[in-house]
Amino acid sequence: MTLNLTAEHKMLLALATKAQKNAHAPYSNFHVGAAILDENAQHHACCNVENAAYPLGQCAEAGAISAMIAAGSKQIKQILIVSPNNNFCPPCGGCRQKIAEFANAETEVHMATKSGDIKTVKFTELLPLAFGFDKKD
Ligand code: THU
Repeated sequence: MTLNLTAEHKMLLALATKAQKNAHAPYSNFHVGAAILDENAQHHACCNVENAAYPLGQCAEAGAISAMIAAGSKQIKQILIVSPNNNFCPPCGGCRQKIAEFANAETEVHMATKSGDIKTVKFTELLPLAFGFDKKD
């Protein structure tokens, strides 16, 4: 799977891996990185940020989405999540709903392992029938 990485995959993987190194995850010791390509061809990355009050911890995807919004963009074209091990790290249920807010039918979700294998799915495969006020079907 590592053989067919596009330049965009490589860019997202590099940015997510860089952010992952700064993860604050002293409770789970599970360091995650996420990077987004938005509709303006800008990139945004973040890591998970845990808290001693466990439920206050934030996933890497949520931080990357916040960075995208702060930069003035609104659409997730692609999002890559890099795992700390050689299993893929699919976005948690809460993050799927957070991604849904800024995704469309073309949005791609890439999951990367520590060794650089990448699996890609359409976002709609991860959260079919997503809740949203503007959904007609
Ligand atoms: N985590 C993420 O950052 N993204 C995911 O998609 C799954 C889980 C974080 C949350 C927590 O800090 C740690 O991984 C263990 O669940």
